[in-house]
Amino acid sequence: MFKTRITQLLGITHPIVGGCMMHISGPEFVAAISNAGALGMMASAMFDTQEKFRDAVRRVRDLTERPFGVNLSLFPALRPIDNALYVEVILEEGVPVVETSGSKPQPELVAQLKAAGVVTMHKCVSVRHAVSAQSAGVDAVTVFGSEGGGHIGELGLTTMTLVPQAAAALDIPVLAAGGIVDGRGLLAALALGAEGVTIGTRLMVTDECPIHENVKRALAAATEMDTLPILGSLHNTLRAWKNAAALKVAELEAGGAGMWEVLSVVAGTETRRMFHDGDVDGGVTACSQAIGMVEAIQPVAQVIAEMVAEAEAARQRLGEWSLL
Ligand SMILES: Cc1cc2nc3c(=O)[nH]c(=O)nc-3n(C[C@H](O)[C@H](O)[C@H](O)COP(=O)(O)O)c2cc1C
Repeated sequence: MFKTRITQLLGITHPIVGGCMMHISGPEFVAAISNAGALGMMASAMFDTQEKFRDAVRRVRDLTERPFGVNLSLFPALRPIDNALYVEVILEEGVPVVETSGSKPQPELVAQLKAAGVVTMHKCVSVRHAVSAQSAGVDAVTVFGSEGGGHIGELGLTTMTLVPQAAAALDIPVLAAGGIVDGRGLLAALALGAEGVTIGTRLMVTDECPIHENVKRALAAATEMDTLPILGSLHNTLRAWKNAAALKVAELEAGGAGMWEVLSVVAGTETRRMFHDGDVDGGVTACSQAIGMVEAIQPVAQVIAEMVAEAEAARQRLGEWSLL
């Protein structure tokens, strides 16, 4: 068992956060992750009304007694997000943990949440942003390396270099994200100074993940060569799975296409359709370079349990080396 400031702060068994995934991290999936002893993180931006979001929060509560979190998106969005509406629900329903990502959280927001007893976290892609989130008052920071699946930003910094530098620069606990799919990655992150990890891609290839089996099977067959960064032309770089839709986006960007043409391919409606219908080339999805290490579709609880057991075994193996 790994007990760190993160397990204490979040009240979880294992130092693992199931990263928020747009179009995926709804109540059932989030509850499955929390029930496995990690922290499920719901994507508030998936709910287009305050009432739908409130219902989703209540549904998580019905499905788990364990802590869970809600991500507030501070990314630029075509559909402007009124996070104040989500915050009202978070406070009224007593959501235990809130994570922000996309840009620096306002200190007033952090103070409002903390005054109500909410644990606050922020996810970012540089040490500078992590220091700035700490000064905004958050309780923990996730640094996200560019090998990971999601909006990796324009800096191209990797988990290997971000984590030790963030851990040295911050007083609050650091989580590592990007490229972690198993116990080796968990132990490596802890060795680098993280006190927990945030994983996304690995959890896509699970029984409970609400995406079509075709997509899960294709991801399980993918290798480390099967991702690419796209959307750099919009200054919003995303590491994506290299399917036909992502290659189309890359081709459009290379040809100097305008924003609307590019966005028509990455539209959330196309991603949702792919996740629902199983047309594996139909939309764009984020995906980690570590996908090459993901081979089996398994229950969430098994993924988390194996990750922790593998990290413990690796720790022991390394300890034995020092006796040689
Ligand atoms: C399909 C997918 C969708 C994601 N959507 C979001 C999102 O909406 N907001 C966010 O902050 N991070 C998002 N992420 C990033 C994850 O929360 C997490 O930080 C990342 O997956 C960790 O890297 P890994 O994929 O290498 O495990 C997404 C990741 C994936 C794979």
